[in-house]
Amino acid sequence: MATKVDAAALNETPIPEPAHKQQKQTIDPYNVSGEVGEDGVVKAIDYNKLVEEFGTKKIDDELLARFERVTGKRPHHFLRRGIVFSHRDFELILDRYERGEPFFLYTGRGPSSDSVHVGHTIPFEFTKWLQDTFDVPLIIMMTDDEKYLFSEKRTIEEVQGYCSSNAKDIIAIGFDPAKTFIFSDFDYVGGAFYRNIVRLSKHITLNQARAIFGFNESSNIGRIHFGSIQGATSWASSFPHIFGEDETKTVGIPALIPCAIDQDPCKHFRMTRDVSARLKYQGKPYAKPSLIHALFLPALQGPGTKMSASIDESAIFMRDTPNQIKNKINRYAFSGGKVSVEEHREQGGDTTVDVAFQYLRFFLEDDEELERIRVAYESGEMLTGELKAICIKELQTYVAAFQERRAKVDDEAVKLFMDRRPLKWGGNPRAPIVVPKVEDGVAGEAAAEGDGKMTKNQLKKLEKLKQAEAKKAQKAKEKAEQAAAKAAA
Ligand code: TRP
Repeated sequence: MATKVDAAALNETPIPEPAHKQQKQTIDPYNVSGEVGEDGVVKAIDYNKLVEEFGTKKIDDELLARFERVTGKRPHHFLRRGIVFSHRDFELILDRYERGEPFFLYTGRGPSSDSVHVGHTIPFEFTKWLQDTFDVPLIIMMTDDEKYLFSEKRTIEEVQGYCSSNAKDIIAIGFDPAKTFIFSDFDYVGGAFYRNIVRLSKHITLNQARAIFGFNESSNIGRIHFGSIQGATSWASSFPHIFGEDETKTVGIPALIPCAIDQDPCKHFRMTRDVSARLKYQGKPYAKPSLIHALFLPALQGPGTKMSASIDESAIFMRDTPNQIKNKINRYAFSGGKVSVEEHREQGGDTTVDVAFQYLRFFLEDDEELERIRVAYESGEMLTGELKAICIKELQTYVAAFQERRAKVDDEAVKLFMDRRPLKWGGNPRAPIVVPKVEDGVAGEAAAEGDGKMTKNQLKKLEKLKQAEAKKAQKAKEKAEQAAAKAAA
């Protein structure tokens, strides 16, 4: 998809002015706005339409049921509520997890400012949950070079400063240092990573880059090349200190990339998938990255907009005080309520556009409580002020907990996460094949690209494990029932 890219293209997107003429919805890395109806009102973004347009797959109940079977874990509320709603080849990752074959998580951040808001932390919260669930390595890329190349005014020193403070914000989400590697492009490019960058760049022509990213004759050539850097991070062989030196094994290890949907259509990963399909290392094919897409948290101004780091009134920032959070939501959060109390009591509010309710879908984990609020608001029983009060409390709690963790992250912690070192992870405890452990950069015996077939012995072992687990679960259940009976007596 060709997109117009100008000098400010990859800077934070300002909130679109309320449009008054009819207009279709636009979602790409540079623009996010909902459809504008005949009445001039911006509608919520139609995510089903996006799935169709981008040719991704919707995450449906069947996939979620399989996820639960394979991981033994209830899907995260983002998955249950369609916040993480679309994917490319996620089922292949589940196949690998089931068989005990290695894969890793990859996500990133462009360090463009110190103003981190809740819209930034959401994808990282979900990534942390994926890491806890799958127990796999996570690689977090800080694209300081991108933020320099795509801005007219930022200096290298400036983006490097953001890089270190943003890394602290990311660490404060709670990632496990034993399994997480954070790197900055300025520091890490070289060696195996640079070889992969060059391999990828050799397979993209200027024509393709123009068609994908919308570059033109006046685009600086750094921008044109940057896609191969973000793309090459999807390949495990770029990280020999984590996956080992043997590229015949590591090229087969795929990444699962959690990202916001606006990163997908014209950006790096569709291109990387295409190139991966054409590349081989000594006869071994490169694994295509899988993707899992989240929708974004709307700006306070409404469901057709996206939070902006440069507009204070558009977002809840991670440095906001409880009072600032309260005032912003009360003042700016777009309401789905009616103009008068009488009308609201009679007709009820619209939760699909109400920003306070939409935020609760992200931050309130309890499904029953959320449903109770939805019914009460839609029936008119609950007023906008009450709904906003609930939202304010949830966000204050979330931001305060973050601030407490963030205060403890120091330069030492950043050094630890960014140090090139082997990581330690377990993978699927129920799977028969053990993931290769890397010691001093040498991968263990297990094949990275195992054919997925189990030997008789492995099947037996798996069956035994399953039975033992079922027994354990049964015992725990009986114990709980006994305790409940005792408590009731
Ligand atoms: N380019 C992204 C940004 O501007 C950062 C990024 C790099 C990223 N690699 C990624 C985001 C992988 C999601 C997934 O923020």
